[in-house]
Amino acid sequence: MSVQGTKRRLSPKDVRSLKGERPIVSLTAYTTPIAKLLDPHVDFILVGDSLGMVVYGLDSTVGVTVEMMIAHGQAVMRGSQRACVVVDLPFGSYQESKEQAFNTAARILKETGCAAVKIEGGAEMAETVAFLSSRGIPVLGHVGLMPQLVNTTGGYRSLGRSEAEQEKIRRDAVAIDEAGAFAIVIEGTVEPLAREISDLVQAPTIGIGASPACDGQILVSDDMLGIFNDFKPRFVKHFANLAPEISAAVEAYATDVKARVFPGIEHTFQLKG
Ligand code: KIV
Repeated sequence: MSVQGTKRRLSPKDVRSLKGERPIVSLTAYTTPIAKLLDPHVDFILVGDSLGMVVYGLDSTVGVTVEMMIAHGQAVMRGSQRACVVVDLPFGSYQESKEQAFNTAARILKETGCAAVKIEGGAEMAETVAFLSSRGIPVLGHVGLMPQLVNTTGGYRSLGRSEAEQEKIRRDAVAIDEAGAFAIVIEGTVEPLAREISDLVQAPTIGIGASPACDGQILVSDDMLGIFNDFKPRFVKHFANLAPEISAAVEAYATDVKARVFPGIEHTFQLKG
């Protein structure tokens, strides 16, 4: 059965097999109801550590814990049945050693039931990617702009305008590819480089702010739905604008409650007879 028509949950291998067939579709989710809405339309759902900013209001992803990722990974698994689910390893839970990465990833797979983990990092993480991949843990790589490094890189600017930056990202992507990542997220990178890397590596590239040249695309769902409106990066398209709609609905609710219009008779339980 083709990946398109399959009734079972897609595996990381299925996602990988889409390279060269059609663009891979992915979004982030953190909760059961949103996972249910995404599930019929996406190939994989990423429980991203972006939840630190989007759900918890943190300034960066650095404060996200393994326990948060497990709770939200479980919620997303409960809401999905078709999409492959990938859970981010948060900052500090895998960089120390390949053994630490294996322990964290194995715990996340066991406690959530997800199929794979994502880790940020290039050449310096290649040994870890190989260690996990060869021991039953599929890995989604993440190169280019790496939000967990904000304290050493100093910000979230796109990369790849200088030859030195291009060379580093190219080297990182190839190292992760050769180490066995089933797919590679490329974040915040100029189009010619994303195109070159997509041609160069065996794994499908999944772009976020990395042009249509990638083998697939991912966005933070709260961004593309127009819920998280603190700022809008250039690479985000609002496919809906839910923040004003939610705000108007809450205002209407407050007005009705204050005017004693809500709850109406139809919302009220009465004694029978
Ligand atoms: O944490 C996240 O949501 C991510 C995506 C933006 C790729 O890493």
